[in-house]
Amino acid sequence: MARLDVTETFHGITFPGHLHTQDSLQSALRFPFQDTDILIVSYPKSGTTWMQEIVTLICNRGDPHVCQTVPNWTRAPWLEQHYCAMVLEKYPLNPRVITTHLPQHLLEPALQGSKAKVIYVSRNPKDVVVSYYHFCKMAKFFPDPGSFQDFLNQFLDGRCELMKSWQNFFFFNLKVTLALQSIKSLHFCGKISAFLQRPLVEEELNSCLKHSSFSSMKNNTMVNCTLISPEIMDHSKGCFMRKGELGNWKSLFTDEQNQHFESVFSSRMQDCSLKFVWDVP
Ligand code: A3P
Repeated sequence: MARLDVTETFHGITFPGHLHTQDSLQSALRFPFQDTDILIVSYPKSGTTWMQEIVTLICNRGDPHVCQTVPNWTRAPWLEQHYCAMVLEKYPLNPRVITTHLPQHLLEPALQGSKAKVIYVSRNPKDVVVSYYHFCKMAKFFPDPGSFQDFLNQFLDGRCELMKSWQNFFFFNLKVTLALQSIKSLHFCGKISAFLQRPLVEEELNSCLKHSSFSSMKNNTMVNCTLISPEIMDHSKGCFMRKGELGNWKSLFTDEQNQHFESVFSSRMQDCSLKFVWDVP
């Protein structure tokens, strides 16, 4: 089977060619946000799918029916992907939950003046790079990542810059981190439901927590990517819901790589006014 390795570059960022076109990327920058929209923004591999699940569950008062019957790309489509407009028209949702990996500086004009609620998901960048590395091995639309050292070098050379994109963004914005206290905490689900102005009772919050757990999501075909054709994702090379662990980077990073990462990352993030907080005891 021919490899799908066509990629699109837009404002210096590479996007998988089978999901993005120059038109779809341009249209995203002019997207007419509605005040009731919920926008999930993240750097890839930071817990995007997990947040899509939590938000869908909260909007359905903890009822997992939609999560278990509608794929995440239909109920929370990626703004920049070519099918987004069609999905929003064909499956009108209230509220609309929209996802994006576009950086803040590109989306800011479209968000100006809108009261759309923005949830920014971040994750320890070392866990992100490990997750991304494994993902590239199975995703046929990315070039072979080579050795972890090669991949890490590429990440530190370019992509890591994008991680600070939404960090200083304040309007209508909630920042959450894929961290232990968040994965297991009722309080955390409550914080998101309050931000979305959708208060839930304890039983509903418990249901949100249960159905957004790693084990539930790993078995949910609507989010675990097993519906994606083997021409696009080689499922023999790994699972999308891979480990769901925090600190998994320690299994792959050498001490030397860790030191190098720390020094490059801190120098690149110097101009970032907000501190990244993801480490858990
Ligand atoms: P790992 O590869 O480290 O396991 P994204 O959705 O942004 O692509 O991020 C995918 C990462 O989030 C994967 O990380 C995946 O396992 C993890 N993830 C997804 N749902 C999760 C959950 N409910 N709890 C913990 N991790 C989760």
